[in-house]
Amino acid sequence: MTTPLRTPPGYRPDPAETHPPLHFPAYRATELRHPSQPLILLPQLLTEVTGPLLGPGRIGPKDNDLTAQHAGEPIGPRILLFGRLLDGDGRPVPDALLEIWQANAGGRYRHTGDRWPSALDPNFSGVGRTLTDPQGRYEFTTIKPGAYPWRNHDNAWRPAHIHFSVFGRAFTQRLVTQMYFEDDPLFAQDPIYNSVPEAARPRLVSRFSLERTRPEWALAFEFDIVLRGRAATPFEEPHDD
Ligand SMILES: [Fe+2]
Repeated sequence: MTTPLRTPPGYRPDPAETHPPLHFPAYRATELRHPSQPLILLPQLLTEVTGPLLGPGRIGPKDNDLTAQHAGEPIGPRILLFGRLLDGDGRPVPDALLEIWQANAGGRYRHTGDRWPSALDPNFSGVGRTLTDPQGRYEFTTIKPGAYPWRNHDNAWRPAHIHFSVFGRAFTQRLVTQMYFEDDPLFAQDPIYNSVPEAARPRLVSRFSLERTRPEWALAFEFDIVLRGRAATPFEEPHDD
């Protein structure tokens, strides 16, 4: 039994100019995968509301250091990536599972579907996870990913980016987005970046932080994630706006 999706009483949707549309013709994959029928609300049973059981026991000591997961160091500029997870009122969200995945410095994913001729790095898997601390803070150590081609249009290249997933308390509470780096020359031709309403695009771009840069070791970039409200981070999931 399904029910049409309606906004619950008292729920304040994010401002309209926040999230990318599910159908954005310049981003060709959305042509086939966007819903063409009205969304329906699936009933949530025990499976959906009681799991996953995410906690410190699921996090390994090297899970938030993508440069320390193999015998040697990966190739590429080492970076610290840090920020906070905040709710719509600016309050920190503690104990949330954050996961990231990314290409290596040459723009290649360690994935069977990625076959373009850029080298794999034996010292880089490109996945990490961590829990936010009591102040909602997180930190990853990784390398800056490279751009990669993706055949969406003629000579299409993705700007350097890192994928982020934020889990809530249940399988149905998951948000996914992409983080970029300032002044990327590929922004102008990237339909994924440009599918985000213009005013919200800067919220996907990390800020270089000289203060947190570790001398003679790593550059640092700050990226806060805001779950909803006027400063909400654009997310890739269906939204009601
Ligand atoms: Fe990607």
